[in-house]
Amino acid sequence: MPDFAIARALHVLAVVLWIGGVGMVTTVLLPSIRRSYPPARRFTVFHDLEARFARQARVTTVLAGASGFYMAWRMQAWDRFASADFWWMHAMVLTWCIFTLMLFVLEPLFLERLLARRAAASPEATYRLVERLHWGLLTLGLVTVAGAVAGSHGVDLFAW
Ligand code: HEM
Repeated sequence: MPDFAIARALHVLAVVLWIGGVGMVTTVLLPSIRRSYPPARRFTVFHDLEARFARQARVTTVLAGASGFYMAWRMQAWDRFASADFWWMHAMVLTWCIFTLMLFVLEPLFLERLLARRAAASPEATYRLVERLHWGLLTLGLVTVAGAVAGSHGVDLFAW
């Protein structure tokens, strides 16, 4: 079954780059910009620096989704979605859907412009909103990673 092992390896590599990047942005980039720039400059600086990561995240999201669906198809694991014991499968799909929606639909269509306009009017509140949004996404990503690693090795993290 080398194809399954390859899909799993690609899945984990994509997740490492993607969620690791979200961790870097949330815990290093955003606080550094907060400390180094006045409120009026923060959003623009963040937006410029994060653009490169957003491009990477689009690639890794597609790779994680494709390899994930391939594994699910190979295992014919669809019945897992009918059971709450496999909450971590739901969490993976939910996390993936949220990021896909943000990166491919909401951001390019209007979120980016909306935030830029809001940042011009109230920079402090907008920057705080961006920070909170990233903490929320990072928490979801990390809980999903922990649940999926334990779950795919037969252990439910929350069943103690
Ligand atoms: C459409 C989205 C996704 C699908 C269909 C999917 C599907 C899968 C499947 C079928 C497995 C193997 C489960 C098993 O061996 O029993 C798996 C493993 C895993 N997935 Fe996903 N996944 C998706 C997205 C994600 C996301 C967004 C994350 C992280 C935030 C993630 C993290 C992981 C991890 C860490 C493993 C365990 C790897 C291991 O320890 O071997 N997946 N995924």
